[in-house]
Amino acid sequence: MESPQPEETLYERAEHAARFIRARLGVEAPRTALVLGSGLGAFADELEDAQQFSYEEIPGFARPTVEGHAGRLVVGSVEGHHVAVMQGRFHFYEGYRLDEVTFPVRTLGLLGVRSLVLTNAAGGLNNSFTQGSLVVISDHLNLMGVNPLIGRNDPRFGVRFPDLTEVYDHEFQDIAVREAQGMSLELRRGIYAALTGPSYETPAEIRMLRLLGADAVGMSTVPEAIVARQMGMRVLGLSCITNMAAGVTDQPINHEEVIETGERVHATFAGLLRRIIPKL
Ligand code: HPA
Repeated sequence: MESPQPEETLYERAEHAARFIRARLGVEAPRTALVLGSGLGAFADELEDAQQFSYEEIPGFARPTVEGHAGRLVVGSVEGHHVAVMQGRFHFYEGYRLDEVTFPVRTLGLLGVRSLVLTNAAGGLNNSFTQGSLVVISDHLNLMGVNPLIGRNDPRFGVRFPDLTEVYDHEFQDIAVREAQGMSLELRRGIYAALTGPSYETPAEIRMLRLLGADAVGMSTVPEAIVARQMGMRVLGLSCITNMAAGVTDQPINHEEVIETGERVHATFAGLLRRIIPKL
């Protein structure tokens, strides 16, 4: 009888994915990567000399759920800077495990990415934000009730108990604020609270999140940021406030509005990314 193949570890699977991408690229892998959130994906279409990989063809990447949109990794250049852009991400609320949600970040890390820009659509709690505001994430509240590092730790990724004192790189935050000023754009700092979703919050939950110090709320980013930090990457987090959070105004929240707002601020958002990327 054939002896069963020993199962590949998470590290080996991520290495496998990174090797596949590296082989297809034929050029050196980028040191900077971006993950584009809901409604913000169009930036990937602006890359020059782009090479594309659908998530389905990358070994080890999760398969899209029925309602999930197929995503792709686009590698190309922005203002002469080589970047990898993930157009679409895997969310916990879609039913993926957090090791699946964060697998692309693991892969990017093993490819050699050192600076990671995580973007998302978020609900606004802070009254100084309005629909369409862009926010640089200064810190987070992980209220998902899970952590992507739960389970056996592979020291090749990083330590068992990573320090999260500075998840969102202070220098990167300053760069983002300065570059926004250069385009007369007000970029506020804020604390991002991550919940699982997929239902939006109740007004009572939003009042609770306010008491906890949250400025914005969303359903992504935090697992990816934790994994990136464990691997020693520097992280910049940017939120687009696509709607004010539940109960802040008397407007109900819907997904179409979230996507529309993201698309409406596209030019500003893309302009900001173009200025920030060369500085990271
Ligand atoms: N809540 C949670 N996630 C979100 C929201 C919200 O109001 N808007 C966009 N993503």
